[in-house]
Amino acid sequence: ITINVTAGEVSKGAYPTFMLKEIDEQPAVMRRISQEYLTTSGQPQIEPKLLQTLAQADRLYFVAAGTSYHASLVGKRLFEKYTQIPAEVGVASEFGYHWPILSQQPVFIFLSQSGETADSRQVLIEAKRRHLPTLVITNVANSTLARESDYSLVLHAGPEIAVASTKAYTAQIAVEAVLAKALGEYLAIPAALAWDLQMQLSLAANGMATLVDDKQGWADLAANFLGASQDAFYLGRGIDYDVSLEAALKLKEISYVHTEGFAAGELKHGTIALIEQDVPVITFITERTTASHTRGNVQEVLARGAQVLVIASEACQQATDQIVLPELTPELMPLLTGVCGQLLAYYATLQRGLNVDQPRNLAKSVTVE
Ligand code: G6P
Repeated sequence: ITINVTAGEVSKGAYPTFMLKEIDEQPAVMRRISQEYLTTSGQPQIEPKLLQTLAQADRLYFVAAGTSYHASLVGKRLFEKYTQIPAEVGVASEFGYHWPILSQQPVFIFLSQSGETADSRQVLIEAKRRHLPTLVITNVANSTLARESDYSLVLHAGPEIAVASTKAYTAQIAVEAVLAKALGEYLAIPAALAWDLQMQLSLAANGMATLVDDKQGWADLAANFLGASQDAFYLGRGIDYDVSLEAALKLKEISYVHTEGFAAGELKHGTIALIEQDVPVITFITERTTASHTRGNVQEVLARGAQVLVIASEACQQATDQIVLPELTPELMPLLTGVCGQLLAYYATLQRGLNVDQPRNLAKSVTVE
């Protein structure tokens, strides 16, 4: 196997950590994905045979682990909106031992940064044994999963070295968006035909650049909200719930702060019992249809003494502090909210004096089930 990696791509350069370098690279990764997968006029370039295979699916099954599972949750929303094909998402380690009753014409989509995750591979092997079509979206073109699947798409994120995945998450969402647009256009779905993805990826890159440029601002927010606490909560609804899960994973895996991401509507069904004086609650509010409900949740936790950081597409005056994000296609907002979660996790960990790139007990690539 030959792996083409240039020296510059695996050295930290002027950066103190790989994770910060990889967070910073995300605007460039968005632009690279646009260049690699879209023509100059913005048309997606996807192998016709892959589109034909996907177009025959009556249901898509996304299977992945960790951060790639969280990117798959966003993928389900993108594909259902732009292709009108229903999608299910499974955690690989669960799916492999509890296969659901499949639809008549399933197509399997595996997301894996490394392309080596054993939990995902065992599902791929079983899907192949059943002669079901498989696609792998991965950052490593010649990885095991890429070689063993019928089709593969690469992320073009460049090598990701820090154990906590950052640029692969946003690259996965961008590549899912390209594929959803390509398939939706192939199926003549009006929402896909009308979607200027090239413009949206460019806006996402610009929005990310603004976020990552304000390093001192993120360091201050992390110190203010996460400096003293050993517990933290992320909440949101819909796509903001998907990001809450990823932001919580990011924080817990590197800072060891016990963090829970949950659906804001579930607050009253249990988690509110844990809200006490000064506990940090970070709330994503980019989903317009449920924004007023989530703002209600913000008031509920504030009333119990929580410190609330709201990260939203509209101002939320009652929050302890807030970040207002620029406009973007709703299903692409995780490109921005995800970066916010990464930056908070990064600085909270740095401030605790911990090893950001190599957290305890974790491996970058898990090749055992
Ligand atoms: C490990 C890594 C995670 C990653 C997960 C899935 O647990 O620490 O960062 O999200 O594996 O890896 P994959 O390479 O399949 O995306």
